[in-house]
Amino acid sequence: MKIGIVGAGNMGSLHALLLKNRPDVEFMGVTDIDLDRCKLFCETHGGKVYRSVAEMVQAGTEVVFVTIPNTKHKEVVVSALKEGAIVFCEKPFVTDMRDADEIMSVLGGQENRVYVGFNRRFAPVYAESKKLINNGFKVFSGNIIMNDGDMTSPPWVTNVELTGGFLYDSTIHMFDMVRYLIGEIREVSCVAQQCLYPLQDNFSCMFRTEGGQSLVLSTNGHASWTWPSERIQLWGDHGTIVTEELDLVTECGPFKPEQQTTNVRNLDRNLKWGYVQMHQDFLDSVKNKTPFSVTAEDGYKSVLITDACYRSASEGGKIIYL
Ligand SMILES: NC(=O)c1ccc[n+]([C@@H]2O[C@H](COP(=O)([O-])OP(=O)(O)OC[C@H]3O[C@@H](n4cnc5c(N)ncnc54)[C@H](O)[C@@H]3O)[C@@H](O)[C@H]2O)c1
Repeated sequence: MKIGIVGAGNMGSLHALLLKNRPDVEFMGVTDIDLDRCKLFCETHGGKVYRSVAEMVQAGTEVVFVTIPNTKHKEVVVSALKEGAIVFCEKPFVTDMRDADEIMSVLGGQENRVYVGFNRRFAPVYAESKKLINNGFKVFSGNIIMNDGDMTSPPWVTNVELTGGFLYDSTIHMFDMVRYLIGEIREVSCVAQQCLYPLQDNFSCMFRTEGGQSLVLSTNGHASWTWPSERIQLWGDHGTIVTEELDLVTECGPFKPEQQTTNVRNLDRNLKWGYVQMHQDFLDSVKNKTPFSVTAEDGYKSVLITDACYRSASEGGKIIYL
């Protein structure tokens, strides 16, 4: 597979490192608005510098990884699709519903053209939680935390022009996780504060799923780096599943006196965060032409939920029905 990257930054490098190690990938190169960055990138990872995604695809690139700031995804994804490439789009898919609608309209129902980088689905703690649920753990309710210690680094995290807003950065992983582990979200209510940074940086959300489960989610950008900054706690039939960071998952019940903890703290970071497994899943599907497990529709729905949170917050916590 001939693969190229748009965005010679942190995530571009992470993906390039993983792709280079695969015998089934020919790394074609990179494009970025910063050509000096592109040159450095190619010195490290190989491949060629391209002036645009169109040029990259016309040179034979079949799969394009989009790893540029959140609000810029739409333009590049659309361009890559129109040139005929398959796209791996980093999360978030996009940062507003108009952009989401435009990509869906370009796709026109075609499958296996866009995969969204929700790596947490493949992280061992969440994969194990999914397995427990598939094996019969019935979720009634849950409590979720997704915090940032601070919003000082990288410098653009408070720049809504680039991120689309706080919820589009890490929190959107948890919106996807609710759908993935529990089911579609049908009701959203959210209140927001601007506490310490020049944007809304603190949110309290309530969700009800199509199955009637209720979930509470707290997320802010000023939590300090107290461990864990990320946690899901699900309650079932006299049972609990708790994940802490991407390190631990604990299960107890139903009516079991003992709890069992799986600890993956010392796993290689790219495995612990699910990046390696996500690449395997995505590239296998491309090669074998099997349906993508994380689709444009998953990306679309995560944006719909994020947008509903902002709309609810702007109306004082009004319930938004999805
Ligand atoms: N899945 C994850 O775990 C995870 C983690 C961090 C970031 N991300 C996502 O990855 C994406 C990239 O984040 P990053 O940390 O690599 O950012 P970064 O700032 O390190 O790199 C972004 C690169 O994009 C380039 N760029 C900006 N606008 C462009 C445009 N219009 N066309 C081409 N290049 C452009 C910049 O010059 C820069 O080199 C973001 O969407 C972010 O939300 C995902």
